[in-house]
Amino acid sequence: MRVLFIAAEMAPFAKTGGLGDVVGSLPAVLRAKGVDARVLIPLHGPIRTAFGDRLERLFSFKFSRRTGTADVHIYATEQDGVPVYFMESWPFFGEGNSVYTDIDWDRERFVFFGQAALAFAGELGQGHHGGAPWMPDVLHAHDWHTALVPFLLHEARYQPGWESVASVLTVHNMAYQGWDAGGYLWMAGVPGRHNPHLVYQNKTDNLLGIGLAYADKLNTVSPRHAIELHYPRFGEGLEGLVWARDGDFAGILNGLDMQRNDPATDRALPFSFDWHTFRAKRIENKRALQHEFGLEQLDDAPIIAIVSRLVEQKGMDFAAEGLRWVLAETSAQLIVLGSGQAEIEQEMRQLEWDFGWKAKVHIGYNVDLAQRIYGGADMLLVPSRYEPCGLTQMLAMRYGALPVVRETGGLADTVVNYDDGAADRGTGFVFLWEEPEAVRHTLRWAIDTYRHRRPAWERMQERAMRTDWSWDRPVQHYIALYEQALHKAGRGDVDLTALARGH
Ligand code: ADP
Ligand code: GLC
Repeated sequence: MRVLFIAAEMAPFAKTGGLGDVVGSLPAVLRAKGVDARVLIPLHGPIRTAFGDRLERLFSFKFSRRTGTADVHIYATEQDGVPVYFMESWPFFGEGNSVYTDIDWDRERFVFFGQAALAFAGELGQGHHGGAPWMPDVLHAHDWHTALVPFLLHEARYQPGWESVASVLTVHNMAYQGWDAGGYLWMAGVPGRHNPHLVYQNKTDNLLGIGLAYADKLNTVSPRHAIELHYPRFGEGLEGLVWARDGDFAGILNGLDMQRNDPATDRALPFSFDWHTFRAKRIENKRALQHEFGLEQLDDAPIIAIVSRLVEQKGMDFAAEGLRWVLAETSAQLIVLGSGQAEIEQEMRQLEWDFGWKAKVHIGYNVDLAQRIYGGADMLLVPSRYEPCGLTQMLAMRYGALPVVRETGGLADTVVNYDDGAADRGTGFVFLWEEPEAVRHTLRWAIDTYRHRRPAWERMQERAMRTDWSWDRPVQHYIALYEQALHKAGRGDVDLTALARGH
């Protein structure tokens, strides 16, 4: 089976959040299972700067649409055995110094990307890249940026070669949709979207909505969030389409790259450890982290950490208020790494100004520093209002920091609440209310456990570190989803199991 991932981000080339991690790790796992997975992303300006020497110019083609003809240049490289293609086309992709720009330009750029991506797949299918023809069986789109692809495929199915190509759309974040894209779609010559659900719900100009209506199969990134998306509170106006596609909508938990994220081998950590040795060795990382942030090196002061986009989705506004209490009332230290909305950054900075000796705030994005925080902090606070999956809590657990999370989406699916009664269970601490008081009291409960029930704390750490967060199970669900999508696209007659094995 041939699967082409079409996405805006892929780690390590371009990553602003978990989308990049998923596109950067799932394809290699699929390949290990015999699926010929490849990836297409735009050639964002920073990729040229950081990875230019690894890019090989593969081929160019002309792509005509209503506004004119574009020259499209394709570059390629391999990452963990996965063929990765990068698309350059002036003025849309190839320049600039960020992955995303402003929403107007991004809508226009990603409408183009969707169209040109389909043309690119056609070129590969004809062997124009110089290699053997490679026509994908499944186009796998991600989030609003590439959600137009399933519709364009639906239109292309009337052409030879495209009849039975299937599409899958993964929703990583429903809150970003590519709204009101009608003008851009019209300018680009994209035909009318006449799906009755779209028309009836007035979403024909909503890029993510279009994907929800036209993809053969859909999923989001945790089972709990798949349920949540049926409600207006989480569906962000698209819950009607989720209901309409209920039978095609799955929830598949994200996995982690367990090799790359391993405290026993991670070069970002000053001291390595694993679940056998963490009781003696992990403390060295904590001391190093305290030193790095200019905090007093107190072994007994629990470090609460935040590694996050500082935005309302992540609950950072009410968390800052709860943290203020915790800093005033306890001996805990606080480390914040992230950036986002100006007013939330400001609230965090204010915590540092008021509690400078025990609270440190680093506004920015730094992958190695994030790993050192997972490896040295005692707890990671993730108070998200909604969280489709969330990778930081899994990373924290893998590295022995216990997550303190709000019970939503993937956080609810991955963190088991501590039970300090007779049962010895748990891998973290869970609360429900989006309130400063909930953050305050749950953190105090965690701090109390850390200080006074250390053996129970360490057993939780061990359980968290030993949990299998790998892609092993999720990848089987993705293969099944691809098979179902092919079935819907009219490939019910082929031997899907043989196809999945790569024959
Ligand atoms: P989201 O995609 O909603 O931002 P996830 O938890 O799925 O949330 O993924 C976040 C990813 O980005 C994780 O790999 C995390 O380590 C990383 N990350 C978030 N903020 C930062 C930061 N300031 N510096 C470095 N890495 C970060
Ligand atoms: C989104 C979600 C996050 C998820 C990530 C990868 O950014 O906010 O919860 O883990 O996508 O699927």
